[in-house]
Amino acid sequence: MKKEVPVSEGLRQLPIRPVYLLSTEHKGKKNIITIGMFAYFSGKPTLVGVGIATSRYSFDLIRQSGEYVVNAVNKKLMNAVRVCGEKSGREVDKFELTKLTPKKGVRVNAPLIKESPVSIECKVVKEVEAGDHVWFIGEVLATHIREGYNWSDGLLFKWIGEDGFYYKVGEKIGTY
Ligand SMILES: Cc1cc2nc3c(=O)[nH]c(=O)nc-3n(C[C@H](O)[C@H](O)[C@H](O)COP(=O)(O)O)c2cc1C
Repeated sequence: MKKEVPVSEGLRQLPIRPVYLLSTEHKGKKNIITIGMFAYFSGKPTLVGVGIATSRYSFDLIRQSGEYVVNAVNKKLMNAVRVCGEKSGREVDKFELTKLTPKKGVRVNAPLIKESPVSIECKVVKEVEAGDHVWFIGEVLATHIREGYNWSDGLLFKWIGEDGFYYKVGEKIGTY
């Protein structure tokens, strides 16, 4: 038997709720925002998307520059995830506050985050309005993986705002 539950409770049970740090830059102004809205849209061309509310400072920077970098996060970056999800780049310099290091990419001007194990450089090819967020669909132009990185790093994968916790990727359970 299944019973109907409030929408927010049902969605909370889904396995995938990723967390990333998105880095942006426009005219020398760099910023980082914590996001959960990330999706893989197409294999060829390789397209991903990030959902950003129009009120965010990051929204302006992506609109103006047409670029962003998606940075995966692990336990070591938990504090940065909190800070970048709370404070706005309009008021603070989040690179300075989190002590994260901007690093030049190869295809876009937006900086990679040096401390992140995996960074993905994207150029916006389409914008889609969807309810309270705008999805910036981006073509993946370059990807970077830290030397020596492996899954045991434990990337953060699921966040449940309602219980106030972040969870990392789980165990390997089988082949396909
Ligand atoms: C776990 C988590 C996930 C979030 N996901 C998103 C998201 O997908 N899109 C978004 O626009 N804001 C999201 N936010 C909120 C922004 O990170 C937050 O409003 C931030 O302060 C905006 O920064 P900015 O004004 O410098 O861009 C999330 C926050 C947290 C803590």
